Amino acid sequence: MRSVIDIRDLSTEEIDSLISVALDIIDNPDKYAEACKRKKLATLFFEPSTRTRLSFEAAMYELGGNVLSVTGAGTSSAAKGESVADTAKTVSCYADIIAMRHPKEGAALVAANNASIPVINAGDGGHNHPTQTLADLLTIHREKGRFSDLTVGFCGDLKFGRTVHSLINAITRYPGIKLVLISPEELKVPGYVKNDVIIRNNIPYEETNDLLSAIPKLDVLYMTRVQRERFFNEEDYLRLKDSYILEPSKLTNAKKDLCIMHPLPRVNEISVSVDDDPRACYFKQVLNGKYMRMALILKLLEEAEK
Ligand code: CP
Repeated sequence: MRSVIDIRDLSTEEIDSLISVALDIIDNPDKYAEACKRKKLATLFFEPSTRTRLSFEAAMYELGGNVLSVTGAGTSSAAKGESVADTAKTVSCYADIIAMRHPKEGAALVAANNASIPVINAGDGGHNHPTQTLADLLTIHREKGRFSDLTVGFCGDLKFGRTVHSLINAITRYPGIKLVLISPEELKVPGYVKNDVIIRNNIPYEETNDLLSAIPKLDVLYMTRVQRERFFNEEDYLRLKDSYILEPSKLTNAKKDLCIMHPLPRVNEISVSVDDDPRACYFKQVLNGKYMRMALILKLLEEAEK
């Protein structure tokens, strides 16, 4: 049974095809309004979420399907000690496809190995969040008109940011990508991403802690939140949380067509006064996430029926 746990589960051709379907959904929503009639999506969210859960649910409703939902470990039998494996086997009896978020790295893979229906990883700890990457890619495609020949800056928590790791993996598959990795020393991109993805594929990159100097060369700036929930001690979080705050004054030397992204939620790393800047794309990312999740649900359900 085909599941999507990691962005690497999708080939570049499949990502391009999902983008094409999402663009067609945007142009022709009526064509898809009954595409998942009588199908059920189970959203199993054992960690907080606003965008991912609601966009999966909106996606399924817009495809004419239905939704079963678990929100919070405390409201399901996980609270009584039920394993992820047993939960996946159980939900397979009721639903046609699962979207699952869990605080533990690897939980979605365990679910996929035990479910008899497709599982989509909606975020597992600090590990992977492939559908956020699909949302990010559609946003870059719609804003820049291409994936190639872009200088992409990632800023903030590049250590724990699962969306950063997944997007680096996806965007560097396209030619002419340069990376600028902007973070404090303690929150640099982990070695396995740097060595296995960036260095192994000869992607030009620089690491810096200086956002202001980096901004003028960027086509895309991907800001991230310092993730309190992933820190082992509060002291380190408090010391690092305000490392980068994007304000209008910092954009004076930015390109006129810079695409400013953020997976959200934000805390204070992008000032709300940036929201009115036409280069702010983070709420467009939210909407694009729904279209890409529609395209992915369609693809996995079609494959499951074969
Ligand atoms: N971007 C994202 O995953 O948001 P939520 O945590 O609100 O789902």
